[in-house]
Amino acid sequence: MADNNVVWHGLSVSKDERCDLNKQKPCLIWFTGLSGSGKSTIANALDRWLYDNGYHTYLLDGDNVRHGLNKDLGFSDEDRVENIRRVGEVSKLFVDAGVITLSAFISPFKSERKIVKDMFDDSEYLEVFINTPLSVCEERDPKGLYAKARKGEIKQFTGIDSEYESPDSPDIAIDTSIDSVGDAVSSIVQLLKARKILKSVL
Ligand code: ADX
Repeated sequence: MADNNVVWHGLSVSKDERCDLNKQKPCLIWFTGLSGSGKSTIANALDRWLYDNGYHTYLLDGDNVRHGLNKDLGFSDEDRVENIRRVGEVSKLFVDAGVITLSAFISPFKSERKIVKDMFDDSEYLEVFINTPLSVCEERDPKGLYAKARKGEIKQFTGIDSEYESPDSPDIAIDTSIDSVGDAVSSIVQLLKARKILKSVL
């Protein structure tokens, strides 16, 4: 915890100046959903679309961040909360730097997602719920982790023996067992345009 001897130092280049230079409005697009639901796939496809259309972006992904910054964390409730707290702080730095930031994490608990949401202005935060049914995620099982969890070889696996609390009012919900990746990207782009984060005409 920062003690009384640590004093915030104001920066000489403001967030508005960084946004002006980048010619864009930054925001955090937060993807939540079960493992195998399609968060990373859709976040990557959206990131590609934004990049190809001239936007400055960065994608933070659970599996990748857990190889570096958060490699000291496991999957207990406590560690997941710390995982999301750190990612929220990193996302805040990216948004402060004027970057459109995409973060794809299971983030299973409502309370931890709220902590992240509360770090941002309403105009700068969008929650995307990848609402693919557990049965479909388990059938896909791209990393073979559900099979291991069912055999008890992985403990505290989300959806099996660790809870996932669905968002009550996400900004957008996508079921990848129904919607294609392209449709999902189009829906999110429309929402970003409606929120005036993206220009309506490119
Ligand atoms: S979170 O719950 O803390 O938000 P995060 O998104 O960082 O999770 O990481 C999830 C990824 O870790 C999954 O996609 C999966 O590949 C891997 N993983 C390994 N063990 C578990 C587990 N017990 N529960 C969920 N995912 C796990």
